[in-house]
Amino acid sequence: MAKILGIESSCDETAAAVVEDGTRILSSVIASQLDTHGKYGGVVPELASREHLRAIVPVVREALERAGTDLGGLAAVAVTAGPGLVGSLLVGITYAKALSFARGVPLIAVNHIEGHIHAVISQARGGGRPVEYPALALVVSGGHTHLFEIREGPLYRLLGKTRDDAAGEAFDKVGKLVGFGYPGGPVIDALAPHGNPHAVKFTLAKMKGNALDFSFSGLKTAVLRWVEQHGMSAEIEARRALLRGNPHPTVDEWLAVTPRATLDLVAGFQRTVIEELLRHAAVAAEGIGARSLIVSGGVASNAGLRAAAEEAHLPCPVHFPAPKLSTDNAAMIAAAAFVKYERGEFSDLTLAASASLTLA
Ligand code: KG4
Ligand code: ZN
Repeated sequence: MAKILGIESSCDETAAAVVEDGTRILSSVIASQLDTHGKYGGVVPELASREHLRAIVPVVREALERAGTDLGGLAAVAVTAGPGLVGSLLVGITYAKALSFARGVPLIAVNHIEGHIHAVISQARGGGRPVEYPALALVVSGGHTHLFEIREGPLYRLLGKTRDDAAGEAFDKVGKLVGFGYPGGPVIDALAPHGNPHAVKFTLAKMKGNALDFSFSGLKTAVLRWVEQHGMSAEIEARRALLRGNPHPTVDEWLAVTPRATLDLVAGFQRTVIEELLRHAAVAAEGIGARSLIVSGGVASNAGLRAAAEEAHLPCPVHFPAPKLSTDNAAMIAAAAFVKYERGEFSDLTLAASASLTLA
């Protein structure tokens, strides 16, 4: 029985979790900084580091307590080494190093993207439908839109990625533009079913070069143009005013300040993103003869994407993480670390933060 403490601080969530043998989640604690960054319309790196510093000790303590263990009961301490914001990563890494040094517990460095992928693999190993290899992973978050081939090992090969905005970033930029605050993804997800996804049509530019690459910046510009042409400033201001008085409006409160045409706009935007993601995933899965498709990262919690993936005629079964494991968390870091623990792949105290760490 190997209990691993995972620590995640790459962006705006301070998280800690204890996972046993890479599958059983004994605890998973997440301190979100959304209320800090929300009013600035995006993550402010300096504030993120400060909030991580404030949260890291109590979050780790709570994760250990909820798991009914202490540092002496751990087989290893795992931490996200990148990619992410350097100042944020450093808080988690420094704390993990201190715990490892003080208690003589091995230190394991985990790539954040590999963590997102393991949110699904570990769930499947823990009793879900098994992931079969070769598998295709579509990692869709605020920072990434990547397609990887995964072979037993796991061995990763990058097949395609976004050339500009990540899918989550596109959701957030459109959300901000239309007056839904930050992050826009969950609000657009909740409102899209109230609009007609076929009323506003967007076309995406055809990719030159690698056909599996993505580009979402043109779509964002098309939404901006639509907003400018439809005289939306009064309704956008009404939504911003709603947010100023209440940082977490309900769907009904949003609907009260969002006309039908705008609901159609966000439904059309979301449909376009989903179709693009699934079209690329289908082509890539076919190309590598994938036996499983893993979809992970914050955008994987999108209900429209989940429904469309079920309905699409994909060449292999699709695996999504439980919604709580889709967005950033530390259970996925501890789960990914277990493979390295079994192989004895440990880091020493020279471990550094790597803002642009790649997986393949
Ligand atoms: O994985 P994550 O928590 O952090 C990164 O590694 O980036 O992903 C956060 C991103 C944000 O862009 C957020 O808007 C998006 O995931 N997101 C969603 C939904 N929930 C979170 N996008 C669309 N629909 C959602 N339900
Ligand atoms: Zn993430």
